[in-house]
Amino acid sequence: MTLKNDRFLRALRRQPVDRTPVWLMRQAGRYLPEYRATRKQAGSFLAMAKNPELACEVTLQPLRRFPLDAAILFSDILTVPDAMGLGLYFVEGEGPKFRHPVRSADDIARLAVPDMETELRYVTDAVRTIRRELDGSVPLIGFSGSPWTLACYMVEGGGSKDFAKVKSLALNDPAAMHRLLGVVTDAVIAYLSAQRAAGAQALQVFDTWGGVLSPRMYREFSLRYLQRIARELERGDGDQRTPLILFGKGNAAYLGELADSGAEAVGADWLVELGDAARAVGGRVAVQGNLDPVTLYASPDAIRDEVGRALDSWRDGNGGSREGHVFNLGHGMSPDMDPEHVAVLVDAVHTLSAR
Ligand code: CP3
Repeated sequence: MTLKNDRFLRALRRQPVDRTPVWLMRQAGRYLPEYRATRKQAGSFLAMAKNPELACEVTLQPLRRFPLDAAILFSDILTVPDAMGLGLYFVEGEGPKFRHPVRSADDIARLAVPDMETELRYVTDAVRTIRRELDGSVPLIGFSGSPWTLACYMVEGGGSKDFAKVKSLALNDPAAMHRLLGVVTDAVIAYLSAQRAAGAQALQVFDTWGGVLSPRMYREFSLRYLQRIARELERGDGDQRTPLILFGKGNAAYLGELADSGAEAVGADWLVELGDAARAVGGRVAVQGNLDPVTLYASPDAIRDEVGRALDSWRDGNGGSREGHVFNLGHGMSPDMDPEHVAVLVDAVHTLSAR
């Protein structure tokens, strides 16, 4: 099927585009009143994510409001450990938790790659439903957490401030940590493959917590597994190839190594100047990012100025060309952001980048 708007995929292939494409991490979420209404109807976030029709509805909500250039599957990275038997639940105001966190070598030995056809069927069903409803308007992004980031939640049992449990495991028993990361990596590859087979047209890995590691530990416990995913994930050839985006918070020092991983794009947070990111990847991959999400709290004029600066920075670092850039935030949106400001941002990207 030919896409009506393929700017996002063209930018990921570093082909010329009429305007810089834009989508926003967490573009579906609590900042939209229609999202809150659907969530209420579903009863909970998880009930909504596990219902393909409702997951499709909330995926499409931001696209009805804003001319975004891509849709992202509405789901969560923690569906994978949930399917591995850890028992995901959410406590209002406290975020995600697991009933059965991974604490010992025995816990790790019991883990297995979940069956995508049964345990995670609701995700691939959602992908198929969304593709049908999008009807070729914009591409659909599928996603997974990175092995390290999933391991953080699996070992900590939820969010963490210092990641003491998961880092202690890596330091005290690196062999056990590598067994855990190995099985999670197998699961991530199977999960992304299943989303691609169901119709996802680009795939993003969220390495949200890679940046909490020292460089030595980042390379050993996070980067190595991102490289394995980029190498082993089957994704076709040429213009039919499904691009893989490796997003990481705090990954500025590793952009060059990530560009050599075999992935098609890297996502950057706002602590790196976009022009420097362009120079670090040197045209080998596309770059996605990287406006500070807090910019959305600023005035419309300030938002436009920041978008203009980011676009110019990319062009300056990329030899005068706008190619190879997907506009995004450096991390996800927050529930108290103003939808009107999102409209300003999206319009600014399209207007200021138009040739
Ligand atoms: O970008 C999108 O619109 C797609 C949907 C998406 C969600 N989570 C929906 C969601 C994506 C891509 C994610 C990824 C995710 N989930 C990550 C990696 C990206 C990142 O933000 O760093 C992480 C670390 C998680 C784990 C997780 N799930 C957290 C920390 C939370 C927030 C808990 C809270 O109360 O704020 C969730 C729940 C979640 N996932 C929500 C949404 C919209 C909020 C749920 C609600 O409606 O209450």
